[in-house]
Amino acid sequence: MNHPHSLEGRVAIVTGAARGIGLAIADDFIKAGAKHVICADILKEELACISGPGLSTVELDVCEEKAWQALVEKTLAEHGVIDILANNAGILSFGLIEDIKPDDFRRLMDVNVTGTFLGMQAVIPHMKAAGKGVIVNTSSASAMMPSNFVSAYAASKFAVRGLSRAAALELGPHGVRVNTVHPGGVNTPMTNPGNAPQEDIDKGFGFVPMQRGCQPEEIARGVTYLASDASSYCNGTELVIDGGMTTGVYFPGLPGSPM
Ligand SMILES: NC(=O)c1ccc[n+]([C@@H]2O[C@H](COP(=O)([O-])OP(=O)(O)OC[C@H]3O[C@@H](n4cnc5c(N)ncnc54)[C@H](O)[C@@H]3O)[C@@H](O)[C@H]2O)c1
Repeated sequence: MNHPHSLEGRVAIVTGAARGIGLAIADDFIKAGAKHVICADILKEELACISGPGLSTVELDVCEEKAWQALVEKTLAEHGVIDILANNAGILSFGLIEDIKPDDFRRLMDVNVTGTFLGMQAVIPHMKAAGKGVIVNTSSASAMMPSNFVSAYAASKFAVRGLSRAAALELGPHGVRVNTVHPGGVNTPMTNPGNAPQEDIDKGFGFVPMQRGCQPEEIARGVTYLASDASSYCNGTELVIDGGMTTGVYFPGLPGSPM
């Protein structure tokens, strides 16, 4: 296959793949030649709409340790290998620190951090034994430059960043690479539940150098790169795909600022 980031013959698990960025990752993996991609999510109805050569679906709550073990055992029984894990499932919450309910904070940490941890823990023994494998964890631009009203989310994505860097240290000597992707402002049901038109969304991105929001496919291509041999020396790499959102800040009114 003549793809710059070929995944020819690879077997992958993508979490949070019923919609949004995860679905775009699964599609892009197939476009890159992956042999089989397992789309894991909790959304039954959305999963039921996914079909195509090389794609299968599974109901998985990333917070459930036993469900992870079952998925890994089934995948190994059916395909003999797990080459790629994209830990993409996540939830978002808003609120001032003084107002966030502790149970909501715990739930966010459970999905975004514990879910990522459990996914890695489930595939590591197999990847270590195989002496190869790639894990791509979805963090966020919020883990580079947090903003007001998303403190719990930013904290969870900083944790994903830390977990991933430590994993890169532990697993690099075993031939397993661990990297993170840091999206910013992607048009998905998470950030645009009312499905507002892209041009309306873009109006809120005047502070971003690219002057627009992002499409899920633009994140997916970065994940495919990190999952492929094209990134063979990337380990502990933090790939920021945010149109420059976290590069710096504009001083409105000064030359060079679009605002
Ligand atoms: N959209 C953005 O602007 C943006 C920016 C930075 C980071 N991210 C991250 O990208 C990832 C994907 O987000 P998205 O924008 O596609 O959102 P989304 O809400 O459209 O998709 C997230 C998916 O994760 C699934 N999910 C949630 N909890 C789960 C659980 N316990 N077990 C299994 N699956 C679960 C959801 O059902 C959903 O299908 C998330 O980790 C998110 O935090 C998104």
